[in-house]
Amino acid sequence: MKLTALPSGWKLFGLLALLTLAMTALTLAAHPLGSDGLRSAIRATARSSYALFLLTFLASSLAILLPGESTRRLLRERRYLGLAFAFSHAVHGVLIYQYAQHFPALFWAGRTVTSSLPGTFGYVFILLLTLTSFKAPMRWLGGTAWKRLHSMGVWVIALVFCLSFFKRIPMGGWYVLAFSTMFAAIALKLIAKLAQRMRRQAVVGRGVGLEG
Ligand code: HEM
Repeated sequence: MKLTALPSGWKLFGLLALLTLAMTALTLAAHPLGSDGLRSAIRATARSSYALFLLTFLASSLAILLPGESTRRLLRERRYLGLAFAFSHAVHGVLIYQYAQHFPALFWAGRTVTSSLPGTFGYVFILLLTLTSFKAPMRWLGGTAWKRLHSMGVWVIALVFCLSFFKRIPMGGWYVLAFSTMFAAIALKLIAKLAQRMRRQAVVGRGVGLEG
């Protein structure tokens, strides 16, 4: 399928939100009513959030390192992919709340308020980034503060994903793969930043050369 055939903007967001809801409903329906279904749906939404987050996190880096129509398109859709990530993670949050309400003993087994702090901190940033993805709060915040908040926010969320996968590595293969991809994505983003800085310096250098 051609990339241009895919929906864009709010239509893309709507499609991804619907897919997240359908996946959650199917996961819950595939289990008898109880804790297993909720836990599977919590895991499934963490994974859909992860896929959407990776696309958002890497959009600008891929556009720098692999310039072309598809990476430009990815960069144009970054806002809607980010909002779809926030939606998927809101569903993760609702399911966690249901799990904690209905199965408190299972929820708190092996979990403390302190161990939940990174995830909670991650949610604070998801909320801030979502709210400031709309025009009025964006204007109110101003360009520099907005840029700072958004670049810090994505790094905080990336670290929460790293930590969430890392602590589950003893549970098996998927977590090793997931942790490695998050780690590789962080390395790729740093490389892209370096490449961009070097390109800018080269342009400035050429400018000085022309002046001289
Ligand atoms: C930005 C915030 C968060 C991120 C990025 C995140 C990410 C994740 C990830 C990656 C998983 C594992 C998915 C898998 O099995 O592949 C997961 C599962 C889970 N998370 Fe979150 N999470 C966040 C916030 C929270 C919070 C605040 C809580 C509760 C206080 C929580 C409770 C859970 C639970 C109960 C599971 C399922 C555990 C299991 O059945 O193994 N999460 N989350």
